[in-house]
Amino acid sequence: MFFKTKLALLSASALIALSSPVAYAEQAAPMTAPKATGAWTDASLSADARADAAVKAMTQVEKLTLVFGHFSTNAPWQTGGSKRFEFPKGGLPDSAGYVPGIERLGIPAQWQTDAGVGVATQRSPTPRERTALPSGIATAATWNSDAAFAGGAMIGNEARLSGFNVQLAGGMDLLREPRNGRNFEYGGEDPLLAGVITGNEIKGIQSNHIISTMKHYAFNGQETNRFTMDHKIGDQAGRQSDLLAFQIAYEIGDPGSVMCSYNRVNGAYACESNWLLNQVLKTDWGFKGYVMSDWGATHSTVPAANAGLDQESGWAFDASAYYEGALREAVNNGHVSTARLDDMARRILRSMFANGLIDDPVGGDVATTIDYAAHGKVTQGDAEEGIVLLKNTGILPLAKSARTIAVIGSHADFGVLSGGGSSQVYAKGSKRFDGEGPDGFPGPLTYYASSPMKGIQARTSAKITYNDGKDVKAAARLAASSDIVIVFATQWTGESFDAPDLSLPDKQDDLIAAVAKANKKTVVVLETGGPVVMPWLARAGAVIEAWYPGSSGGEAIARVLVGEVNPSGHLPATFPASADQLPRPKLDGDAAQDGDPNTHQHTDYDIEGAAVGYKWFDKKSLKPLFAFGHGLSYTRFAASDLKAEAAGKGLKVTLAVKNVGPMDGKAVAQIYVAPVADAGWEAPKRLGAFAKTSLKAGESKTLSLSVDPRLLATFDSASKTWTVKAGDYKVMTGNSAGDITGTVTVHLDAQTLDVRGK
Ligand code: BGC
Repeated sequence: MFFKTKLALLSASALIALSSPVAYAEQAAPMTAPKATGAWTDASLSADARADAAVKAMTQVEKLTLVFGHFSTNAPWQTGGSKRFEFPKGGLPDSAGYVPGIERLGIPAQWQTDAGVGVATQRSPTPRERTALPSGIATAATWNSDAAFAGGAMIGNEARLSGFNVQLAGGMDLLREPRNGRNFEYGGEDPLLAGVITGNEIKGIQSNHIISTMKHYAFNGQETNRFTMDHKIGDQAGRQSDLLAFQIAYEIGDPGSVMCSYNRVNGAYACESNWLLNQVLKTDWGFKGYVMSDWGATHSTVPAANAGLDQESGWAFDASAYYEGALREAVNNGHVSTARLDDMARRILRSMFANGLIDDPVGGDVATTIDYAAHGKVTQGDAEEGIVLLKNTGILPLAKSARTIAVIGSHADFGVLSGGGSSQVYAKGSKRFDGEGPDGFPGPLTYYASSPMKGIQARTSAKITYNDGKDVKAAARLAASSDIVIVFATQWTGESFDAPDLSLPDKQDDLIAAVAKANKKTVVVLETGGPVVMPWLARAGAVIEAWYPGSSGGEAIARVLVGEVNPSGHLPATFPASADQLPRPKLDGDAAQDGDPNTHQHTDYDIEGAAVGYKWFDKKSLKPLFAFGHGLSYTRFAASDLKAEAAGKGLKVTLAVKNVGPMDGKAVAQIYVAPVADAGWEAPKRLGAFAKTSLKAGESKTLSLSVDPRLLATFDSASKTWTVKAGDYKVMTGNSAGDITGTVTVHLDAQTLDVRGK
C-alpha cells in the first residue's frame, strides 16, 4: 500500500522555487517591551470591541505574526535540515502547530493540537498519553448529542491541561464515499445527524475556554489525490448536503475557527475558494471567527487572502511561506488591502477573546492533573452507546450457561484498534504489533490496551480460549469445539489513503466464514472505519459494529456482549450490499499520483448531488446491506400516537415510545419527512429530527421534536433563500431509513426562509 506522507508533500513541492521566508523568530513580537494596556483588556466589553481595540494597537509585524502558523514538531523524522521544519521557540513538542502571541499586548500564543478523538501526538518515540474517544463515526452512531458534548468537554479538558488552546477537532465531511480513509473521523452521511453531533462536540471542547475548529471545509470526501482532487458540486446541492451539515454544526457549536481543506472545489483550492469562504461561510452564515488552512493547503498569498483565508497553518508543509514576507509585500503594494489584513487579525483575536483564551489562559502542560479515571468512564460511555447491534438471532447477550467461549482474531486478547493519521491519540499502554501497518505516517497502527476478551472473562465463569485467527483451520477447529464463538475483525483506515474496496482486509472474510460454518453460535465483532460488506452474514449468529471504540473500548464491547449494557447505537451511514450500488462504483483518482502537485483529477459530486447515502439508495430503489438508522436492541420498542403540525416555519412532531421488551434500554426516535407531491427534493425522504431516550422495561414516554424548516425546503441559489413548497408532507417514524413503521400527513403552507434558515 502506498502511503502519502506530509513530508512527501514537502519534497514534491520543494521543486517549486521558494521565496526566501523570514524566520519566525525575526518576525515575532518584541518580547521585552512593557505591556501595553487598552480597551482589549476590559473583560466587560464584547469580543468584537476588544478585538477592534487590539487590532488598532497593533503594528503590521504583529498582525502578520498572528496569521502565520508554524509546525510544532521536534520529532527526529522531521529533521530534514530545512529551516521550514525547525521547531518553533515557544511551541509544544510533537504537536500540530504554533502561532506566537503578542506579549506586548498580553495576547497569548496559539498552541494547536489534533484532534477529534483526543489530544494527539505527532509521530514521536515519546508520545503524550491521553484518553481516546471512540471514532467520530462511533459518536455519531450514539445519536446522542449529550454524549457528543460530554466527549468534547472531556478531550477539551485534556487539551487545556496539556497546554493547548486550539484543538483541531470538529471533523465532519459527509460520508459520500464509504472507502474514504477518514470516514472514522467524521459524523456519517446525514447533514442533520453529522451537524448536531459534531456541533455538540465542538461546544463541549470550547466549554474549556479553548478554540475548536470545524473541518475539513469542504467536500474533502476522499483521501486519494487529496491534495489536488477537484470536486465538482453545484451551489444548491452543496448547500443541501455537506454545507448544511457544516451550517448546523456552526450554529450549535460556534467554533472559533474553520479549517479549509486540501482539495479543490469547482476548480479552486478550498483555501482560496471565494464561494466557500467569503460567500457561504462569512457572508451567508455570518461566521465571525477565522479560517485556518489545513497543513499544506495554502497555495498562494493574494488569491488566498482575498478569498477569505485568515491564517496559514503549519507553513512548513506549503510550497512557500505565503503569509509571511509575501503577504507583507502584498499588503504594502495594495494587492491585499490593509483593511483585509486587519480583518484577518481581528477574526483571530475575536475568537481568542470570545472563547476565553485571553481571560482564562492555558497554564502550560499540567497533564498530571488529568482525571483519567473519570475520563475513562466518559469514553467508555460513548463507546457503549455507539456500538451497533446489526444482527442477532438470539445468541446475544451471551448465555450464562456457556461453558466454553472461543475468542478469535484481531488481538482481542490485548485491545482494540484505533484509526491512523494526524488524529492518532496514544493512550497509556498503546501498542503497535510488529509487522502491522506502515513504519511511517499514517502509522503506527495502534491498538489500545483495553481487551474485550479480558472484559468478557471478568464477567463469566466460562472457559475462554484465544486464537489469533492466523491459521483459519485451527480457528475453525476451536470454534467447532466451543459453546460460543466471538470472532473479531478489523479494518485499519487512516488519513492519506482510502480503503481499496468494501471488504475486510487480510482475508478476514474467509476466517469469519470458516468459523461461522464450524459453529452457528458465532458472534462477529467489527472494528472498522466505516461501512464494509459481509459475505458471511447469513451464517453469523450475531454481528456488532464497534467502530474504533476508543481507549476503553474493549470494556464497552464486553459489557454489550454480556448484556450489562443494552446496545443502542444506530448506523449513521448506509452499509451498501456492494460497491456497484454507489454513485461511484470505482473510486475516482489515482493513488499513484498522490504527491504530484501537477495532477488535476476530478470527482463529480453532482452525480448524487445532495442525495448522499440513504437518499441515493431511496432515489435509486436500492436495497442496502444495512440501512442508515438501523440498530437492534436486547429489548423492543414500539412507537405510537405519531402527530405532526406546522409550527413556526417548520414542524412539531410528537410520538409515544414504549419499551415493550424485557430489559431497560435506550430508544432512538427517527423522524423522516417527505413531500407527497414532487417538491424538487434531491431524494424521496430526509431525516427531519431525532431524539434518544432511556426507557425502563415497560416504560413509555411522549417525545416532542421539531423539524428545522431547511429540512423541508430546497435552496434557491439565485435569491439565496430556502423555500418550502405548499402541500402535503408525510411525517414518518421508523427503525431505520429502510423500515418505516408509522406515517401521518400534514399540510404545510409555502414558506420562504433567509439563507440562515430564519
Ligand atoms: C490533517 C488535519 C490536521 C493537520 C495538523 C493534516 O494532515 O488533514 O486534519 O489537523 O494535519 O496535524
